[in-house]
Amino acid sequence: MVDTAHVDEFKIAAGHYATGVVAVTSLSDEGPLGFTCQTFTSLSLDPLLVSFSATHGGSSWPKILAEGIVAINVLSNEQTQVANALARSGSEKFAGVSWAPGENGCPLITGALATIEGSILDVARYGDHDIAIIGVDSFSASRGEPLLYFRGNFGTFSSE
Ligand SMILES: Cc1cc2nc3c(=O)[nH]c(=O)nc-3n(C[C@H](O)[C@H](O)[C@H](O)COP(=O)(O)O)c2cc1C
Repeated sequence: MVDTAHVDEFKIAAGHYATGVVAVTSLSDEGPLGFTCQTFTSLSLDPLLVSFSATHGGSSWPKILAEGIVAINVLSNEQTQVANALARSGSEKFAGVSWAPGENGCPLITGALATIEGSILDVARYGDHDIAIIGVDSFSASRGEPLLYFRGNFGTFSSE
């Protein structure tokens, strides 16, 4: 039996770790797939690997996993609306989100700070999440300020 009060306290503690925000996307016959994600990280340079964790509670992740390919869109500080839209469940997630297919066909979100396209090489199941290992096939980056997530709120980075 999960102690929900204990979990809530843990979420507050873990929420003190500031992260960037990405949109993990893929494409199915039924249209674009995607979810907002803060667990993205660069994993390996040789070979180029990145990873993220996906909750078993999401409806998009099993469909993305079945496609086997993803685009990771690093969101800018002007994309809070995209982060909120792709954090909601439902078929209208991409309404109002501008995107174009990348080299592997996955949605690249207009205005993203950086994009990384790749293939899902492996998935390790731990607790209520999957850790996905992505082999990087292509990537791009542009200038701008990042969207950050800290203690349950969106913000951005300002250098000293
Ligand atoms: C800032 C932020 C970060 C999130 N990070 C993750 C994450 O790392 N992994 C994850 O599975 N869900 C994460 N979520 C929740 C998913 O975005 C959400 O469960 C998903 O979009 C639900 O839609 P779905 O049913 O279409 O999957 C995050 C949500 C927000 C707002």
